[in-house]
Amino acid sequence: MVLCVGLAGNRAPASPATGQAVTFADGVAPLLRDRCGACHRPGGVAPFSVLAYPDVRPWARAIRNAVRTRSMPPWKPVPGYGGPFVGEQRLSDAEIDLIAAWVDAGAPEGDRAAAAPPPVDYGGWRLGEPDLVVEMQAPYALQAEGIDVLRKFALPVPVGKRRYVRAVEFQPGNPRVVHHANMKIDPTPASRQLDAADPEPGYEGVTPFSARFPFGWFLGWTPGQVRPPAAEGMAWTLDPGSDLLLELHLTPSGEPETVQSRIGFFFAAGPPDRIPFTIRLGKQDLDIPPGVDEYRSEDRYVLPVDVEVHGIQPHAHYLARRVRGHATLPDGTRRPLIAIDDWDFHWQDSYRYAEPFVLPRGTELAMEFVYDNSIANPANPHAPPRRVTWGQLSANEMGDLWIQVVPRNAADLDLLVRDRRPIELAEDIVGFEMVLAADPNQRMVHDDVALLYTQFGRVPEAVRHYRESVRLAPDSSAAAYNLGTGLLQLGELGEAIVELERALRLDPAYALAHNNLGAALKLRGDLLRATVHYREAVRLRPGDGEALYNLANALMASGAPDEAMTLYGRAIAARPDAAEPHAELALLLLIHPDPARRDAARAVRLAERAAELTGRVQPGVLDVLAGAYAAAGALDRAVAAAEAALEHVPRGRDDVAAAIRARLEGYRRERAAARPR
Ligand code: HEC
Repeated sequence: MVLCVGLAGNRAPASPATGQAVTFADGVAPLLRDRCGACHRPGGVAPFSVLAYPDVRPWARAIRNAVRTRSMPPWKPVPGYGGPFVGEQRLSDAEIDLIAAWVDAGAPEGDRAAAAPPPVDYGGWRLGEPDLVVEMQAPYALQAEGIDVLRKFALPVPVGKRRYVRAVEFQPGNPRVVHHANMKIDPTPASRQLDAADPEPGYEGVTPFSARFPFGWFLGWTPGQVRPPAAEGMAWTLDPGSDLLLELHLTPSGEPETVQSRIGFFFAAGPPDRIPFTIRLGKQDLDIPPGVDEYRSEDRYVLPVDVEVHGIQPHAHYLARRVRGHATLPDGTRRPLIAIDDWDFHWQDSYRYAEPFVLPRGTELAMEFVYDNSIANPANPHAPPRRVTWGQLSANEMGDLWIQVVPRNAADLDLLVRDRRPIELAEDIVGFEMVLAADPNQRMVHDDVALLYTQFGRVPEAVRHYRESVRLAPDSSAAAYNLGTGLLQLGELGEAIVELERALRLDPAYALAHNNLGAALKLRGDLLRATVHYREAVRLRPGDGEALYNLANALMASGAPDEAMTLYGRAIAARPDAAEPHAELALLLLIHPDPARRDAARAVRLAERAAELTGRVQPGVLDVLAGAYAAAGALDRAVAAAEAALEHVPRGRDDVAAAIRARLEGYRRERAAARPR
């Protein structure tokens, strides 16, 4: 852990006040080693080493200047506003005075023999021996000259079972050129496919939507930093089959370099009992006109539950100047969260509060970022300035303030996620549409935004983007499948069938396409062909409960109840929590044309389970349950279930209500007849 301990206490440097000259050996060397050596050492990220006198001497004046202006060590948060943070890198006034006095005195070396011993070996892991080490499969060759490179690498994480991660340590491999890194987890093959499509190791381009920081965490790395392990009971979950998407920001060094980074994973013994969540404040409608030097982006959010605040991470690109976050408590008290007044794209970090603090429900979180798109901003990547809109590439702009919070319990976490997620997803849509307006040819962005629209039930918009995806990748079976499926959801059966058939021509073994084509054909009344495709889907994925259920329904409809019975059974085995196959099989056990195959007792068990799974509010399921009870001779229960079914029939479905009422009357008559007189 880099908890920076001040110099005072364990060492008493010769004070400038004594009149005796400060020397490198006596006081300065250990200070520079402890506060600068993580970066300023042979092979380090910084331009010179502070470990040996001959290397330091030529830089003495620059060092004095850097510490006086506090440009070094790099530490951005305004002191006293929001912190204290773990690992604060600021020098004290006394430390600055000591260095300045040494330089003023001519930067003397002093007694070389008395100089401090060399520092701890940073080459090894700093958190101990990792449980798992993942390395870039091949070194990446970085060119000698040119602009910064933002490159992404998908690394498989070989875990055989679910693991809980309490810490991740990043080793840049080549600290001269690795400027900063982000680590995201992708449970889908999306990142891997992008990486594979580029012949060199890694790829350049956007991060797929599926690759995210682990739930509740940001995993970043900046030079000299090691993120302290998660607090007790707060490990995050890593599932088998996931890839780690490593995003590297690389700065050419003037010579050709290779980079091969490694990541060490440290596992916790068991699952977490406190789960954090990262609230992302920030707007994605950024549209910064050229020349404007005070463009503001603001966002706010009122907490629906009490939380404990653990960490914070601002993110922006080159045009940001000032970054601020604060909280306003329900009683009006203002609590600063973070302020950075000289934002620098190159020194972004995630900050952990030394002491987590509680913000009660009703607290308003607020962020304000200020951007300068004028010529006066030395970091402006465009000369002359250009209009800059939201986007992930560094020539675009972003403005996020991530706040890591821990709710009091699982119910509060759930409430927070359900309250916050839709807001952030809606903001994602705004951002993606902005990116596509600037460049409509980014197929993956079309797919990602379509997925988001689908989550919000906005299928027409999703289909619009799937069409674009097909336009950009006419030979992709996945694109054809997505479009066909969207059209099916819209009820555009003719076109859906065309697209799904096209997907199958491109990939005849596409089980999901067979399944959805079956659904489209069945809706059009072509039961025969629907059954053929459902069969194919089941053959290709024998454990797919959805496909098994669909095939069973098609077989029922085409008069093959025996085979349907077997398939409902398999569908239930594949998805024990799905209500529909339970209810359908229960019904079949009541109405099978061969009375010998009917089984009222089993129908009761299945229908009871279906009712339980649907919360006893589905009229269809309750109706089947009533029928099963009646067949088993439990007429009181049959009457009660049918009455409950009637209660839940939606308004306007008088036909359904009438049918249930007729059956209810039947059960009542039967009951009356059965009563002993
Ligand atoms: C977190 C890594 C890191 C730490 C810690 C750090 N530096 Fe640096 N330093 C750099 C990097 C990287 C550069 C190269 C310039 C840049 O990227 O800003 C640099 C550049 C410098 C320069 C050259 C600046 C110039 O004007 O060209 C000086 C002088 C310097 N550092 C002094 C220090 C001193 C003194 C300390 C400790 C008190 C320190 N640095 C701590 C990373 C660091």
